[in-house]
Amino acid sequence: MKSKLLTSYEKIQMPEALTLEHETLRAELIRWAREPGRIGKAAGRVTRLCETHFTKEEDILLRAFGMLHDIASDRARPDVAAVAKIVAHFGSQHDAMRGQHQSINTAIDNLFQLGRSEQIPDVAELAAMLKEHERMEDDVVYPTVLEIARSVQAGMGI
Ligand SMILES: [Fe+2]
Ligand SMILES: [Fe+2]
Repeated sequence: MKSKLLTSYEKIQMPEALTLEHETLRAELIRWAREPGRIGKAAGRVTRLCETHFTKEEDILLRAFGMLHDIASDRARPDVAAVAKIVAHFGSQHDAMRGQHQSINTAIDNLFQLGRSEQIPDVAELAAMLKEHERMEDDVVYPTVLEIARSVQAGMGI
């Protein structure tokens, strides 16, 4: 079967399993950021740091994953402009996004300690989930996107 072309960057569907995780984390952070006192302040700090970070990840990383399924099954291939846009975005943002993980992790550690010291297990659990999320991105998602970009670029001669 001849593979068809994904017409544009905007049409690449982001995998729902990955966007749902961001949505769950966002909703929980916003809920705890509304709390008064130190917990609300600490959750608010994590929320602010994650806001633009999550959006950027969705726009760049999750779109790269969105291409993967079609490429692997040979159903569709992305057009050059779509791939070039992802590669250019990721190339220019990769170091900054890894740097954001460091600031986010510091804020998460603070939230975790507060959840523990104020004996609110849900807060400590949310902080642990966030930490795991960022670690999985550092160890799996970011390197995979680099690899997707490399292999698609090589296959398309760009
Ligand atoms: Fe993320
Ligand atoms: Fe992240």
